[in-house]
Amino acid sequence: MSRRPLVAGNWKMHTDASSARDLARSLARALASTDASASQAVSVAFFPPFPFLEAVVAEVAASGATSVAVGAQDLHAADSGAFTGGVSGPQIASTGASWVLVGHSERRSVFGDNDVAVLKKLLAARRAGLRPILCVGETLAERESGQGERVVERQIRFALEGGEGLDGWTKATKNAELCIAYEPVWAIGTGKTASPEMAEAMQAHIRGLLPQRSWLILYGGSVKANNALDLMKQENIDGLLVGGASLEAEGFLSIIRAAAASAKS
Ligand code: PGA
Repeated sequence: MSRRPLVAGNWKMHTDASSARDLARSLARALASTDASASQAVSVAFFPPFPFLEAVVAEVAASGATSVAVGAQDLHAADSGAFTGGVSGPQIASTGASWVLVGHSERRSVFGDNDVAVLKKLLAARRAGLRPILCVGETLAERESGQGERVVERQIRFALEGGEGLDGWTKATKNAELCIAYEPVWAIGTGKTASPEMAEAMQAHIRGLLPQRSWLILYGGSVKANNALDLMKQENIDGLLVGGASLEAEGFLSIIRAAAASAKS
């Protein structure tokens, strides 16, 4: 079984038209040239804010980097319609982006995306030909009250099996591959990374819930250049979803190199 690592950079609501382009250009050029060996072993994806998707796609294409893809941070569950401010899967796909994050904890907690909304978005991504990354994770209160595994399990089971009149991912897509990102909410943007062992325990639990053991499971939450290697050495961590540390080119390249160094075969 070979799981090619994926390192994803979630830019959140950072950068502007010019700095997004600059960041994409420096990363993509580095990955196309000097870091070519790292980029052969690892897939990389940038998740810029919506307005810069097309420019970032253009920078990646111009660099010639072949293992770099671009994705959006969210999508609307409908394909089109009167949804002021919404951005649909087909619109995202039309920019040349190929991935989309779904169910990020900030979408769940700040924008109110519940398990039903998350499943609808996963299916919308699929209809548009985008590859979704399903983000799951427990809050500190849930972990401390011993509910961590239960919460993550509920999030994954609902997405895969469905409920409330909705077919889940497994049935709706005939068991297409789905990438999962485990991001403990208490570790996001806080500087508190889960220890590699703590992350591994949950990642292994997640793998046991999936219909295919080969699906990629990323870890996210305060990943930095200095902890990426130890995280990537864990058997069930197949890649990293990086927020803050993806905004600085050199640091993000170091994380990609760490992932390449620990590529599992
Ligand atoms: P962080 O964010 O790396 O800044 O903790 C990770 C994420 O939210 O995807």
